[in-house]
Amino acid sequence: MKLSSFAYFAGFGIKTVLFKKKDPILGTIILTDKCNLKCKHCSVNNITAVVYPYRQIKKEMRQLYDMGIRILFFCGGETFLWKDEGKSLRDLVSEVKKMGFLIVNVVTNGTFPIDLPEADLILLSLDGNRLQHNKIRGDTYDTIMENIRNATSDNICFYMAVNQINKRGIRDVCRKAKEMPNVRAVSFNFHTPYPDTKELSLSPGEKAVCCNVIAEMMKEGAPVFNLKSAFPYLIRNSFPTPCYQCVVMENGKLSTCGRCIEVEGLCEKCGYFFVAEYTLLFRGNIRIILEMLMTYLKYI
Ligand SMILES: C[S@@+](CC[C@H](N)C(=O)[O-])C[C@H]1O[C@@H](n2cnc3c(N)ncnc32)[C@H](O)[C@@H]1O
Ligand code: SF4
Ligand code: SF4
Repeated sequence: MKLSSFAYFAGFGIKTVLFKKKDPILGTIILTDKCNLKCKHCSVNNITAVVYPYRQIKKEMRQLYDMGIRILFFCGGETFLWKDEGKSLRDLVSEVKKMGFLIVNVVTNGTFPIDLPEADLILLSLDGNRLQHNKIRGDTYDTIMENIRNATSDNICFYMAVNQINKRGIRDVCRKAKEMPNVRAVSFNFHTPYPDTKELSLSPGEKAVCCNVIAEMMKEGAPVFNLKSAFPYLIRNSFPTPCYQCVVMENGKLSTCGRCIEVEGLCEKCGYFFVAEYTLLFRGNIRIILEMLMTYLKYI
């Protein structure tokens, strides 16, 4: 991370903590909800299957920038399916970088060839070992591994949503992240139980076991892009929600924290690690602040 970006985030953090501000810094633009997969744990694919037009996305990028957002995620559906007016996902990433966003990340299922060196991180969903991943995501594991090996940059970070099917696959994903040259890190979430996928959620006891495994892997040198100090809050779901520093834009509609904010009762069962990490950070939790500094400087 550039020193100027670091200074910007530090200034934002200090103002937010001292004055208890609720201004957002992290934004996500949903490019489409169209997807080539139909994963068992996912409730947000192919609801409309519309690919949002370039002009609309461009307007949303400008709106988020003007609101003060400086960390931008492109998400979906499947982001690599996005194209319009001769523009590709790669063009969008280049444009937001030029616009002045300081960190630009893309979330993908990894089933398409990866040529996105301009992104700071490509969060690539890997949901366990080959068997577990394919059970959740269809027969895609080998294609994904091939795409990672052929990727044109080493900015990939595995993204694993831990649930009942893959809860024993954490070690495998950590080891893969360590072993593959194009993979920089791995970041975890727990399953967030939307009404149609409740049966995949983990109990506090199961989450504690998973956190112990992640902590053990960190100790062994696995490149985990999460904060250990947030684990106790994630296990008990005792972190504050929603995260006011995060917004999501989909089809012109802006939501605080996530699209899921509209699902009744979901926030109290939220499994997203970034929500725990960011809300605790901006409440001034000293251990989280120190650990975040170390972690972000290491991986971005
Ligand atoms: C909705 S997908 C969109 C991007 C891309 N299609 C992919 O699979 O990475 C973004 C991430 O959300 C995760 N996800 C989907 N449903 C979830 C849930 N109920 N709880 C936690 N993570 C979930 C996916 O595993 C994926 O890592
Ligand atoms: S690839 Fe992503 S968007 Fe598509 S079904 Fe799976 S988790 Fe959902
Ligand atoms: S806190 Fe609520 S809105 Fe935010 S990600 Fe979790 S479930 Fe979604």
